[in-house]
Amino acid sequence: MKIVAKTSSRSASVTDHAIHRNRLQTIAELRNAARKCQACDLWKMATQTVFGEGPSKAQIMLVGEQPGDQEDRAGHPFVGPAGRLLNEALDQAGIERSQVYLTNVVKHFKWEASAQRGKQRIHKKPRYSEIQACRPWLDAELRVVKPQVLVCLGSTAAQSLLGRTFRVTRQHGQLISSSLAPFVIATVHPSSILRAPDEDARHLQMQAFINDLKVVADVARGATAA
Ligand code: URA
Repeated sequence: MKIVAKTSSRSASVTDHAIHRNRLQTIAELRNAARKCQACDLWKMATQTVFGEGPSKAQIMLVGEQPGDQEDRAGHPFVGPAGRLLNEALDQAGIERSQVYLTNVVKHFKWEASAQRGKQRIHKKPRYSEIQACRPWLDAELRVVKPQVLVCLGSTAAQSLLGRTFRVTRQHGQLISSSLAPFVIATVHPSSILRAPDEDARHLQMQAFINDLKVVADVARGATAA
């Protein structure tokens, strides 16, 4: 099943049709089909599709922006520096990474060559059209996993799932009413903490991130007890 389409809205509906026509109902089936996705042009520069991973009935789903350089090479989400920082924060918040489903709004690495540093690949923010083209995969992951708690990591994920006016700086850590999951919350992207200007700022941002993830842990515990 190869998905090729010209515009983002057409790509999204072509992908959606392919998912339904082929009755893709498990994460393994979706991952396999997404390997050949050409619904936008990002596949051309990426090494491979990096699909979501984790238990297919996870209570918590974390959604990031797109795979980074290391994820693109490894084929797994959140295995690079941002992933290591995420692991530390999850651990501090009492959430086991192995129990969480981790994915991204865009499943190919978008990058440009560094002007200064030879072969280095610099992350480039995905365009709205690319996020739209990839959306059917995320919707399909949500249908399969049906998480109790959906967590948007950073403003690209938050704005694409909760609306373009959503501001992570103001609304992080708050429960947001949404049809996507019983509980929806946004927090910062771990890579923003890696970019903190100094050690003090990094420490403060990390604490705020952990506090948001503690809200996630509390909500998930409450949902299990209910
Ligand atoms: N950043 C993301 O948003 N996702 C990844 O998988 C890695 C880094």
